[in-house]
Amino acid sequence: MPNMLAARPPLGWNSWNTFGADVNETVVLEAAEALVRTGLRESGYLYVVIDDVWQADTRTTGGELQADPDKFPRGIGPLAQDIHAMGLQFGIYTCAGTHTCADRVASYGHEWEDARTFAGWGVDFLKVDFCNVPPGVDGPMLYHRMGQALRESGREIVFSACEWGIQQPWKWGRAAGCHLWRTTGDIGDGWESILRIGFRNVADWAAYGGPNGWNDLDMLVVGIRGGGNVGQDHCTDAEYRVHFAQWCLQASPLMIGCDLRQATAGDIALLGHAGLLEINQDPLGVSARRIAPAEDLWDWADLPVYRKPMADGSLAIGIFNLTERDRKFLSVAWETLGLRPDQPYRVTDVIAGQPLGTHRGSIAVPVAAHDVAVLRLFPVAGP
Ligand code: GAL
Repeated sequence: MPNMLAARPPLGWNSWNTFGADVNETVVLEAAEALVRTGLRESGYLYVVIDDVWQADTRTTGGELQADPDKFPRGIGPLAQDIHAMGLQFGIYTCAGTHTCADRVASYGHEWEDARTFAGWGVDFLKVDFCNVPPGVDGPMLYHRMGQALRESGREIVFSACEWGIQQPWKWGRAAGCHLWRTTGDIGDGWESILRIGFRNVADWAAYGGPNGWNDLDMLVVGIRGGGNVGQDHCTDAEYRVHFAQWCLQASPLMIGCDLRQATAGDIALLGHAGLLEINQDPLGVSARRIAPAEDLWDWADLPVYRKPMADGSLAIGIFNLTERDRKFLSVAWETLGLRPDQPYRVTDVIAGQPLGTHRGSIAVPVAAHDVAVLRLFPVAGP
């Protein structure tokens, strides 16, 4: 029986998008404290994950991974304990190759001893990157290998594959024991990056995600606002909404990437939005699919509608305006949603938290440029 460590998409915080190589014990503890203080822990953001460049230059004489003593003077175990004491879970990073993407010591050929080390430190979540894999070595095999090592480590550890989608990990990740797998290369804090990662090629992988095996669209850039380690031209508030709404509709794991100590009230409100998180965490675990006929109509290409069936029989839909022009009305017909036109639905505007009344046949909503409307459609007594 496979374990069910990730029955819902894992939520948390990861150091990379803000701190990059400058990660250390203080910023990790302060991020954990901020999760508690802002209420985001209560919203479900439980994993505090240290990404690359936590490692010392070499293994111990016994062959174990060890932390950079300047950055983590107490080592990793005591830090994990502190995180646990805050009601949170602890995550860390290694790489399937000989060295990480930032050229630190990694786990190739050391999978079993490293899995044991991580288990001994109290690790609950392990991200495994894909740089510096020796030529000719089969990538999926390495993830199978680490999956086995983790299962034999004596601790339940969520396994996060970061293979960037190159060998379609949605097809083999589950069998390898991965609970989530990245679908693309790295996210940046900019509109083009949101479009590339969140909207292109969704059809390739959406069908494969679900409970205990999630399509990971990469860490969030909400609140980065051009700073941090992945700052680009940065997103507007509406663009962050598009990003977060689509990650929720896709049932992607949500790993906050911003500096929570400095995040604005608006950013915290978006990250903790109960209605959007309910869509993300729905037990059915379906990744939203783009509905017909938008696929085929060239003038609809930038006005996509995504549909996510929910466990309670309702539908969550995202009506996106990816164009440069505000739209007064974007309408969706019941038939394109796979619904009978005479069936009435009670509709709510999820982001605004407002009821929109009962509708038959179709619904139209205004959506500004680079923004989104997220609706829930609840069936009411039949026609
Ligand atoms: C990349 C990975 C990023 C980050 C970085 C660290 O390969 O996709 O998410 O982990 O390596 O070096």
